[in-house]
Amino acid sequence: MEAWGIHHLGVAVADLDEALGTYERLFGAEVEHRATVEDQGVRAASLRIGGGRVELLEPLGEDTPVGRFLAKRGPGMHHVAYQVSDVRATIAELAEAGADLIDPEPREGLFGLEVAFVHPDSVHGVLSEVVSTG
Ligand code: CO
Repeated sequence: MEAWGIHHLGVAVADLDEALGTYERLFGAEVEHRATVEDQGVRAASLRIGGGRVELLEPLGEDTPVGRFLAKRGPGMHHVAYQVSDVRATIAELAEAGADLIDPEPREGLFGLEVAFVHPDSVHGVLSEVVSTG
C-alpha cells in the first residue's frame, strides 16, 4: 500500500472550542470544517495549519470511542490519517499484509471523507486511518 502522505493528525480534546482557540493562537490554525456527528459520538473540527491538517475530536459522552480514549489516556494524539487514492483497494492490501482492520469495509468518516481504521496493535500502538478524498 502506498500513501500519498499524511492527510491529518487526529487529536482528542476535552473542550473543542477551547482547543480551537489554542491552535489558532499558537499555530495560526484556520478552521476548515466543523461538525457534530452523533453516530460517531464527536464534535469535531478540521484545521488547516500551513500545508498540514489537524482534526480535533471532542467526545459527545463518556461511552463513545473518543470518550473512552480520553478517560483512559487523557487528551492528546489519537490517530494518524494517511491519504490514499482508493480506500477499498487499500483495505484489501492492508489485510493481505496482515494488518488488523477495525473497518473491513470503507465507511463515511468526518467531513464527507471515505475512511477505514487500522487497529493500533498492528501499527506499534498508533491508531491509523486511511482516507480518500474521493
Ligand atoms: Co481522522
